[in-house]
Amino acid sequence: MTNVQTVILKLTGEDDRAAIAYAADIIRRGGLVAFPTETVYGLGASAYYPGAAKKIYEAKGRPSDNPLIVHVSDPREAEDFAAVPEEFYRLAGRFMPGPLTVVLKKTDKIDPSVTGGLDTVAVRCPDHPVARALIKASGCPIAAPSANRSGSPSPTEAAHVIADLDGRIDAILDGGACRVGVESTVISLDGDGGCTILRPGDVTADMLSEVMRSVKIAEAVTDPSRSGDRPLSPGMKYKHYSPRAEVIAYDGAYEEMIKAANADPAPRVGAIVPDGYADLVNGTALTEGDGGADDSCHAFFALLRQADELSLDRVYVKVPPKTGKFLALYNRLIRAAGGKITKP
Ligand code: TXA
Ligand code: MG
Repeated sequence: MTNVQTVILKLTGEDDRAAIAYAADIIRRGGLVAFPTETVYGLGASAYYPGAAKKIYEAKGRPSDNPLIVHVSDPREAEDFAAVPEEFYRLAGRFMPGPLTVVLKKTDKIDPSVTGGLDTVAVRCPDHPVARALIKASGCPIAAPSANRSGSPSPTEAAHVIADLDGRIDAILDGGACRVGVESTVISLDGDGGCTILRPGDVTADMLSEVMRSVKIAEAVTDPSRSGDRPLSPGMKYKHYSPRAEVIAYDGAYEEMIKAANADPAPRVGAIVPDGYADLVNGTALTEGDGGADDSCHAFFALLRQADELSLDRVYVKVPPKTGKFLALYNRLIRAAGGKITKP
């Protein structure tokens, strides 16, 4: 779908009901609507309407064997299209609505274009009032990947969605910036009371172990070279999140990284640094707040897009620890850097 008139609906808190009703009508008729969630913006289509999800793949330019997450307004709605084990409700009680996606066995009710031929479906209940209101008003679960062109950084503001998809989708609900900034944690259930993290996010392994017997982390999470052989989560095998600028994942202290960036002969060099380090950067300092995991995750994709707006040739980013909420950032960064880590 190209050259369609994309309607941009700015949510103000006043006429939001009318905007959401308008968007829900598009979803019910098999169209595409981008909407905010607490993680990133999603590009939604009805999970039940025959062939609707196919249009998502066309609009994004996404390989059609990469399955979509199905969004519900209440975890119990999963029973309408998936086999729901008791553990799902334990997870839901603790983490839903929220940035957790659980892979379940699907039933035939889901349109095959949603799951890329798999017999499983990924389910998520987003913690964002606009997302849940849209799902409720549509009267069906909504299949949605991140609302970016395939390969570009995930969108955390409506302006990012407009830059990537204006003229290719029916409508965009503009609900401001997303709180978390990286996509949800995706897990599969091991069948023995344990789970495996397929994609790390704001819900961490430690948090999951509060309700699960064991928590494994798929190797591809920290090693993108492993993604091709066993596509547990097919999305992990594609090069992801890449801005046009070359991303240098630098495994050293901020001071060392800034020294390396300052010595880089490329004409336009930038570095993502906590606010307090901005003055040390000779090129472009892209500031990420206090340098903690929440601020860094929130800022990461938006800063990669900013690097492109500024036509930077290279962007230096410090490799974060592989622990807690930083694991999500580590996972996105090594993909953006094409798997290459630079040491001092
Ligand atoms: O936060 C999020 O999860 C955002 C918002 C919009 O909800 N959505 C999102 O969707 O990030 P997407 O399509 O960009 O990423 C979905 C990930 C991919 O890595 C995909 O391979 C995996 O989930 N996935 C989807 N269905 C799956 C399934 N049945 N089995 C294993 N992995 C699955
Ligand atoms: Mg995505």
